[in-house]
Amino acid sequence: RGKRAFIAGIADDNGYGWAIAKSLAAAGAEILVGTWVPVARWFFDGNYQVYPLDAIYDSLEDVPEDVKTNKRYSGSSNWTVKEVTESVKQDFGSIDILVHSLANGPEVSKPLLETSRNGYLAAVSASSYSFVSLLRHFLPIMNPGGATISLTYIASEKIIPGYGGGMSSAKSALESDTRVLAFEAGRKHSIRVNTISAGPLRSRAAKAIGFIDMMIDYSLENAPLQKELAAEEVGNAAAFLASPLASAITGAVVYVDNGLNAMGVGV
Ligand code: NAI
Repeated sequence: RGKRAFIAGIADDNGYGWAIAKSLAAAGAEILVGTWVPVARWFFDGNYQVYPLDAIYDSLEDVPEDVKTNKRYSGSSNWTVKEVTESVKQDFGSIDILVHSLANGPEVSKPLLETSRNGYLAAVSASSYSFVSLLRHFLPIMNPGGATISLTYIASEKIIPGYGGGMSSAKSALESDTRVLAFEAGRKHSIRVNTISAGPLRSRAAKAIGFIDMMIDYSLENAPLQKELAAEEVGNAAAFLASPLASAITGAVVYVDNGLNAMGVGV
């Protein structure tokens, strides 16, 4: 039987989630997609089963009344992490691959020094805990030998001015959690947990941050490989990491960035 993947965080065909879906599908996987509730009704791809999802809510009890009645949400149902997991279980029974390709930091354009407590916590909730929650809920229906992938950014470990609002902190948490969850999910269920530290891509989320063109130019000038990074290159690395070819790789941060992370100074 082919592998079945659930990919959280696809809303259009520009981002890393979409590229990962393409690469996994090309490798023979069946694709299920989790799409953020407010945009789920625009996103349609007849090839994939789509589940509306808001990864900042674990179960219906956590959803505030104003969100429940918000018209961007009230047209959809069963979109908390727990409910989506239950729907996938009901529809398909199990999955093999879980991909987390989502992030949100409402104050991302503010420096950390100007970030509010709420903005910081919102960034960590949407960008880091969302992965803990997804894995926690999906683990019982993941087949042993399966794998998870998330997407991180070098701002977790080096100073990248402009990546604010606590997003750098959120990515540090995601990378640390990758190690701890690799241990826990590995011991408990033989599931591998890795994260890809990706180079800059002009996705919808990245355009919202505002400095993406500068980052792409910087990489073109300074990275060992002087080419623009294609989303497909990240998709292919994800397909490798999710496959048996990577059966001994877990708890790792894998750089897919034309080597930029290895540079000490710009040249
Ligand atoms: P994208 O805009 O294609 O993907 C972000 C997705 O997150 C969107 O589909 C959005 O609807 C979804 N999302 C946001 N909040 C959500 C929530 N509460 N519940 C469910 N879905 C939610 O953009 P991109 O850039 O492909 O982002 C994917 C991942 O790649 C993110 O983790 C991002 O931080 C990471 N990344 C992106 C880089 C870039 O230069 N674009 C560089 C390194 C990492």
